[in-house]
Amino acid sequence: MTDATPRKRLLIRTWGCQMNVYDSARMADVLAPLGYAPTEQVEEADMVILNTCHIREKATEKVFSDLGRLREAKRQRGGEMVIAVAGCVAQAEGAEITARAPWVDIVLGPQSYHRLPEMVARASRAAGAVIETDFPAEDKFDHLPETAAPQGVTAFLTVQEGCDKFCSFCVVPYTRGAEYSRPVAAVVAEAQRLVALGARELTLLGQNVNAWHGEGPDGRAWTLGRLVRRLAEIPGLARIRYTTSHPRDMDDDLVAAHGDPPALMPFLHLPVQSGSDRILKAMNRGHTADDYRRLVDRLRAARPDLALSTDIIAGHPGESDADHAATLALIRDTGFAQAFSFKYSARPGTPAATMAGQVDEAVKDARLAEIQALLRDQQTAFNRSRAGMVAEVLVTGPGRHPGQMAGRTPWLNPVHFDGPESLAGQVVPVKITAGHPNSLSGVLVAPVHAPARERPAA
Ligand code: SAH
Ligand code: SF4
Ligand code: F3S
Repeated sequence: MTDATPRKRLLIRTWGCQMNVYDSARMADVLAPLGYAPTEQVEEADMVILNTCHIREKATEKVFSDLGRLREAKRQRGGEMVIAVAGCVAQAEGAEITARAPWVDIVLGPQSYHRLPEMVARASRAAGAVIETDFPAEDKFDHLPETAAPQGVTAFLTVQEGCDKFCSFCVVPYTRGAEYSRPVAAVVAEAQRLVALGARELTLLGQNVNAWHGEGPDGRAWTLGRLVRRLAEIPGLARIRYTTSHPRDMDDDLVAAHGDPPALMPFLHLPVQSGSDRILKAMNRGHTADDYRRLVDRLRAARPDLALSTDIIAGHPGESDADHAATLALIRDTGFAQAFSFKYSARPGTPAATMAGQVDEAVKDARLAEIQALLRDQQTAFNRSRAGMVAEVLVTGPGRHPGQMAGRTPWLNPVHFDGPESLAGQVVPVKITAGHPNSLSGVLVAPVHAPARERPAA
């Protein structure tokens, strides 16, 4: 941007999963050439984008309450504010948004972000809202500009979008469309660019990231394990993670990749949703609780220090006390380092929403509380079990207190320790001194190549 370009301010609010976080960054990239620079202040925003999530009812309602507040902000600027709703609520409820909030200028689904500049131009001329909600994922990735902004030490890279699994409870197949994998060459090129911009850790993203597949430069069909091995060869890239994966797509090669290359971190988010075979069947998950247990055994055989995370839903239609007990049993058997758990939320248009046996709100609350208490204990136990270890920590930046730095262990725990700012971006050994419920404390271990102190005289 030259000095002559009028400077405009862009505020993006992001809800939902990491794919939305990635998409928000790409929307900022696409609008930067139009002179939009980021702001956090709604009062000075010339444009506001709400990047929304439709996964549970609460997430969707937040969008409408935020739109109510934005109406007032727009009025105070004399109408000089472009309001856009993006993401999964835009995709699922475009018409309802424009009906309930006619002050919205743009509604765009997750596959239309490359069209934003054109839509902004059209919005300035149009009387009503400009809506785009039906483009295939290929278009978006082919047309988005290359990431240019400096990145942090850790970066997200979307390799796969959409979902064909149609779990009974879930809106994602409807909001994000069919499964689509980005080609190997595009992924490798973006990974190289992110590393050149300073990323030391990449997290590969997809609604079903381990369903990713593509044709490699060797002409063979690649799955995610092969892609991870290729990315591990990029000089300067220290760490690779991927999320979110489905148990059914965990092939032998990907399981083996957890043993080697070392750049693939020993942490895996592997949602199970329920520990009851009856409910897993009703959910259309395509595996049993014991399938999951066996998969975890195989993963731990490949990588004994693997830490697991999961997602659990409490109170799917048809869930009995016995089903709930089976979920608690699976959690106990597996031992999770971290987890997300949710009360089942009926979503319009999904098969579960109209199933018999909807569970009482109070019962759902009680089950969720029990699940969360158990998961919290497991997380605290995991964090405490790190105490005394020397962990390789990727230093992400300054910590909360002066002189303090923050980073992540291989198992994704946030860790704080005293050290110089020059460590940012490095992987350093940190002796863990204490495990707390949500983080670890540690002390920097003197690097081995530091000059040895003189031995005290005998
Ligand atoms: N693709 C991922 C999940 C994406 S959605 C997978 O297959 O695991 C993230 C999580 O939200 C899900 O794992 C599930 O636990 C939760 N979720 C999805 N729909 C839900 C609903 N209707 N009610 C409650 N939780 C839900
Ligand atoms: Fe939703 Fe199931 Fe697809 Fe995950 S796999 S996004 S839970 S439908
Ligand atoms: Fe939400 Fe859409 Fe992600 S519904 S969880 S933002 S895919």
